[in-house]
Amino acid sequence: MKTIAIYPGTFDPITNGHVDLIMRAASIFPKVIVLVAADTKKKCLFTLDERVEMITRAVESCSNVQVVPFHGLLVAAVKEHSAKMILRGLRAVSDFEYESQMALMNRRLENSIETFFMISSESFAYLSSSFVKEIAGLGGDVSSMVPSGVVDKLRIHFSKI
Ligand code: COA
Repeated sequence: MKTIAIYPGTFDPITNGHVDLIMRAASIFPKVIVLVAADTKKKCLFTLDERVEMITRAVESCSNVQVVPFHGLLVAAVKEHSAKMILRGLRAVSDFEYESQMALMNRRLENSIETFFMISSESFAYLSSSFVKEIAGLGGDVSSMVPSGVVDKLRIHFSKI
């Protein structure tokens, strides 16, 4: 069976750190499915459709990457795609606690699904979607941090406020 890597997240918005991880995963696994969470604890700046569209544009050069929204539990969505593997990025030691809790909870919910971790590239280790939104909202330049389509979306969003 082909190993499908499921890369889930809120991606509000996708950053170059996420893109780097997706590209690296796409060079290892035959198929990567980016699952975009509809139900998240976070108060999102962008709608689900906007987040899916921004990711789709950012990874369009990768033919083995698919971008799909999901509702409800992650493990249920992983099973729906007949996958067994969740991929997550680790930026710093501080990510470990949250990520290990989530991996253990997902395993408790569905024992057959494993979480694998990839270390972020050094240049993106301190990047986060929250920083990007804060900087863009205050008029700062985020063009080196997010794909160009996201720069445009942020500019449009904050020019309306
Ligand atoms: N490069 C740059 N930034 C990165 C990164 C990387 N490689 N990896 C993570 N990040 C950042 C993101 O920018 C984001 O920053 P923010 O907190 O400032 O927004 C943060 O790390 C994590 O975001 P993301 O990767 O989008 O994931 P998430 O933690 O928002 O996603 C879900 C969590 C969606 C996977 C989780 O809530 C979920 O599974 N929800 C479905 C319901 C469910 O099953 N719940 C039970 C879970 S046990």
